Amino acid sequence: MQFVIDERFRQFFDGRLKQTFLYLTDDCNMRCAYCLYKPDLDFHLVEKEIPKVTAKSLISDLREMGAIKLTIMGGEPTLYDRKALLEILRCAKRELQYEYVRLDTNGMFDSTLLYERDFRSLDEITFSLDSPRKEVNDSVRVGGDFKRVLGNMRIASNLGYSVQVTSAVHRHNVNEIEELVDFLEGIGVSRLNFHPILRTGVPRDAWTSEAHITPLEWMNVCEKMKAFSAERARKIMLRIPERIVRKEDFDSNPDYYGYCPERLGERILVHPNGTLRICALTIGTPYGIGWFDREGMTIAWNDKPTNELRDNQLATERPCPKQRRLYFGNYVPLCISFKPRQKEIVYEDLDWEKRRR
Ligand SMILES: C[S@@+](CC[C@H](N)C(=O)[O-])C[C@H]1O[C@@H](n2cnc3c(N)ncnc32)[C@H](O)[C@@H]1O
Repeated sequence: MQFVIDERFRQFFDGRLKQTFLYLTDDCNMRCAYCLYKPDLDFHLVEKEIPKVTAKSLISDLREMGAIKLTIMGGEPTLYDRKALLEILRCAKRELQYEYVRLDTNGMFDSTLLYERDFRSLDEITFSLDSPRKEVNDSVRVGGDFKRVLGNMRIASNLGYSVQVTSAVHRHNVNEIEELVDFLEGIGVSRLNFHPILRTGVPRDAWTSEAHITPLEWMNVCEKMKAFSAERARKIMLRIPERIVRKEDFDSNPDYYGYCPERLGERILVHPNGTLRICALTIGTPYGIGWFDREGMTIAWNDKPTNELRDNQLATERPCPKQRRLYFGNYVPLCISFKPRQKEIVYEDLDWEKRRR
């Protein structure tokens, strides 16, 4: 079944769509201190997951609109019905031929999942882990079990999965990042993606509890990590969101630093309550570009004041439209998804590094 798609939605993307983030379920078996999905966990009491048939139709339509990469996440996607999850993976990889399919997980799943044939078709499995130490990890990733996650990472690695990690960087681990990288490299993790927990004056700051670090602390981590990667040939690749640059650097190359999924129309985030959005900074808000209606099988354009694009001057303005009114002194805030020099299918497809001067 195909969705009937509003023409304004199609026209906005106009063949530019490259990736789909499918939030299959809002449910999670953990309660991380800094989690930005708190409103989805606790307020969306009814439509907590995207039914299998709806999910398959959505990823099919979005593939037709150009998406080549699919990220399955949540909530915790492994809480979704196992058979249905495997069917969605099979559909994405075999029938729809998404070039790259990955799954984000807290790693607490039953390890037999890793042996399932359709699960093995994943191009990447990304585990969330914040520390090489159980006491640190489990105290912020509440409900998690370091040993169990590590066990699943080891099995996945032995089975030949591309095992990657996302680490949030917050005040509980900010001083042990080098140790974390060494540890993950040692256990065969191929790539580490950082999520700095910063408060920059956007609504989702409300959910970070007191775990955030300062922009200066993050800039120090970035400097250390750049030196760290350069110091010797490392097996682990790092994806480092820059988040903030000096104004003079930004002004010297706004086309490069002005990476913005809303301007590029490169992604779509699909949520169980029907919200379709582009910018991850709008998560936990009513803002988005449209909705899907699972009963009516329609995709509607958001023509209300909550359209996330409404106040953007995307053609003329370069800094992140969601952070442009905030005061950062002599610094400019960057898109949270802008990760210079990253080896990642969409970033490379856009040939973004070519813009670096
Ligand atoms: C919300 S989880 C969902 C997928 C899965 N349950 C997991 O734990 O990986 C996706 C990633 O977002 C990160 N995350 C949670 N809260 C965040 C926040 N406030 N800012 C940035 N990243 C955050 C998590 O640490 C995790 O790596």
